[in-house]
Amino acid sequence: MLGDFEVFVDSQPVPAEAWVQRRATDLVKLLALASGHRLSRDDVLETLWPTLSPEAAAANLHKAASYARRALGDRGAIVLRGGVIELAPGAEVSTDVERFERGDIAAYRGDLLPNDPYAEWTLGPRAALRERRLEVMRSQGHWEEVLREDPADEEANRAVMRRRAASGDRPGAARQFRALTEELSRLGLEPSAETLALQRELTRGPPVQATRLLDAPVEGREQELASALGALQRAAAFDGTTLLITGSVGIGKTRLLEAVLAQAEQFGFHTLRGAGQEAEGRTPYAPLAEALDPLAERRPELVGALADRAQLALSRLLPSVRRPDGMAEEPVERRLVFRAVAELLDRAAAERGVVVAVDDLNHADEATVALVHHLARSGTGERGLVVAASGAEPRWRWRSVRSNAARSHRWRSARPAGRCRRKPSTSSRARPPATRFSQRS
Ligand SMILES: Nc1ncnc2c1ncn2[C@@H]1O[C@H](COP(=O)(O)OP(=O)(O)OP(=O)(O)O)[C@@H](O)[C@H]1O
Ligand SMILES: [Mg+2]
Repeated sequence: MLGDFEVFVDSQPVPAEAWVQRRATDLVKLLALASGHRLSRDDVLETLWPTLSPEAAAANLHKAASYARRALGDRGAIVLRGGVIELAPGAEVSTDVERFERGDIAAYRGDLLPNDPYAEWTLGPRAALRERRLEVMRSQGHWEEVLREDPADEEANRAVMRRRAASGDRPGAARQFRALTEELSRLGLEPSAETLALQRELTRGPPVQATRLLDAPVEGREQELASALGALQRAAAFDGTTLLITGSVGIGKTRLLEAVLAQAEQFGFHTLRGAGQEAEGRTPYAPLAEALDPLAERRPELVGALADRAQLALSRLLPSVRRPDGMAEEPVERRLVFRAVAELLDRAAAERGVVVAVDDLNHADEATVALVHHLARSGTGERGLVVAASGAEPRWRWRSVRSNAARSHRWRSARPAGRCRRKPSTSSRARPPATRFSQRS
């Protein structure tokens, strides 16, 4: 009955053609499933023909018994006696269900009576047998089997994640986690705290560090340095912000940005940096691609944990991200690119913190400025800091980046790292969001 319905009499299969009447097979199945292969007459009538009148049901029973005896080739195959109906009381009856219940796992070749999926009386036993099999699979550590039955089983998913990570396949562990979250979200659920903690533990990898460009110690600038490092400390305490550094050519913006990156490294953060390159034109996203590609290249599991759509969006941006298998090369909307970048940074921030530094934003393309704006506004996590340096007003929507940074509190919506010291000659309108360098007198 497990996987299929088949009857053997003296080891010989009863041919399918012998079962001319469905009610005959139903009666045999029901009795084979019953404990001791016997049931009261009333139970049989009520189970198989609940909607029929007692007379009609009784007539059905007699016909069913008669056809079943004929199919099984024995008058004693169905016995009705004293209000009880029995299956072959004079013979030895054995079923795969019983063998399975006695511990023979191989007897479970499939679900109970799969050709009667909706028969009311099969539902309970089918579910119970399936659950029992899952328990055995769990106790024997056959986690892949458990997942085939129940892809949302968290224990099995955790076990597979652990196994993959132990064999050095961190991206595989990340993919497993992702499959689980997708499965759970289909059910309107989220992974448990235990699974989330495991995900963090298993996929935590080494930090990705940006190359240092300037090493000379910072002289003076105590106030700017203190406010910039304060922003970083807040980010380390899960209160990330966006930091804008503005000031005229050669005044030390890159130097300050370097100081923030160096300190972030001390904190164990990922440090990512890119810059607008005036000489290279305004290639869309170039500074952010430069900043993020090392992360994607060295920590592919962070990318692998993202949904296929996000990976597709990133593959358009970052040379190290491959287009997911089975996804067509198609245009990706800007908002999907923004979201994918935010999600990747979110993973990096959640893992160990991240600083994304974009230098020379005034030489960046419109898409980069818009994406920096997006990161400042919508945020990508809590342990993150966006640092943007700009020698002049970038051509694109700079003002709104600035006002976003000004309003914010967390990385989600950034906040100014420090008060600017205005040059005496600047206009009276303060520009609070940016750390602004004034000429030293
Ligand atoms: N406070 C400082 N202490 C020590 N060196 C500094 C300081 N500020 C700037 N410098 C040095 O001055 C030079 C120019 O600084 P930096 O490149 O940081 O300026 P910038 O504002 O980024 O310039 P640009 O507008 O061209 O990008 C660098 O060699 C840098 O090391
Ligand atoms: Mg510079």
